[in-house]
Amino acid sequence: MRPAQSLPIRALQFDGLGQRFGDTSPWLFRGLSAKFLGGERCAIVGPSGSGKSTLLSIVAGWLDPTEGTVEQEGLERVQWVFQNPHGVARRAAIDHVALPLLAAGARIATADAEAAEICAVVGLSHLTDRRPFSMLSGGEAQRLMLARALAVKPDLLLVDEPTAQLDRQSAATVNSAIASIGAAGGIVLIATHDPDTAAACDRIIDLAEFAAVSA
Ligand SMILES: Nc1ncnc2c1ncn2[C@@H]1O[C@H](COP(=O)(O)OP(=O)(O)OP(=O)(O)O)[C@@H](O)[C@H]1O
Ligand SMILES: [Mg+2]
Repeated sequence: MRPAQSLPIRALQFDGLGQRFGDTSPWLFRGLSAKFLGGERCAIVGPSGSGKSTLLSIVAGWLDPTEGTVEQEGLERVQWVFQNPHGVARRAAIDHVALPLLAAGARIATADAEAAEICAVVGLSHLTDRRPFSMLSGGEAQRLMLARALAVKPDLLLVDEPTAQLDRQSAATVNSAIASIGAAGGIVLIATHDPDTAAACDRIIDLAEFAAVSA
C-alpha cells in the first residue's frame, strides 16, 4: 500500500563530470557519475587541491563543469556553508537563525524557540546573544552559518570543511549535528578532510579515485 503522504522527490545526479582549469591543465577529476536522493549525506574527500570546493561550486551553479552534467529534481531550497562566514554585524547570533524561520511565516516566539534549539545542536547555546564578527570566533561564526542553513530546512545543503577551524569537542558537536540533519529529507554534500565528518555521512566520494583516470 502507498503511504497517504509521500515525501517530495529530491534528487541530484552527476553524469560524467570532469573539471580542469584551461585546455592544457591536468584534470582535477573526470568521469564522476553519482546519484543522490533526499535524506542522503555524502562526504566529498580527497587531498588538498583535488577539487572538493570546485565540485561544490559546480553543484551550487557558480561554475560550469568542463564536461558532464549536473541534473536536479525538487531542489528548491539550496543552502551553502562555505569557509568565509558572513552575517549582519549589528544583529545577535540567534537573529541570524531566527530570520529564515520568520521569513517562512513562524511567529516570533516560535522562531526564537526553534532557533535556540538549532543553536544548541551546533553547540552555540551559550553564544546566542553575541554579535557575529565582532564577538564570535571564526569557527563559531561558521557554526552559526551552519545553524542558519539548517533553519531553512534546505532541499540541498552544501558545506565546505565544517570542522577545519574547530577544536576536537566543537568538531564532535558539529559532526553529531551532521549525523542528524539527513533526517529532514534534504541532500547534504560536505567537503571534508575530517574522517569523523566522513563517518557521520552515509557515503563517501573520494576525488582521488577520479583523478586517476585523468589523461
Ligand atoms: N578559478 C580557478 N582558476 C584556476 N584554478 C583554480 C580555480 N579554482 C580552483 N583552482 C585550482 O583547482 C584546484 C582545486 O581547488 P579546490 O579549491 O577545489 O581544492 P580542494 O580539494 O577544495 O582543496 P582543499 O582541501 O585545500 O580545500 C587547486 O589547485 C586550485 O588552485
Ligand atoms: Mg576546499
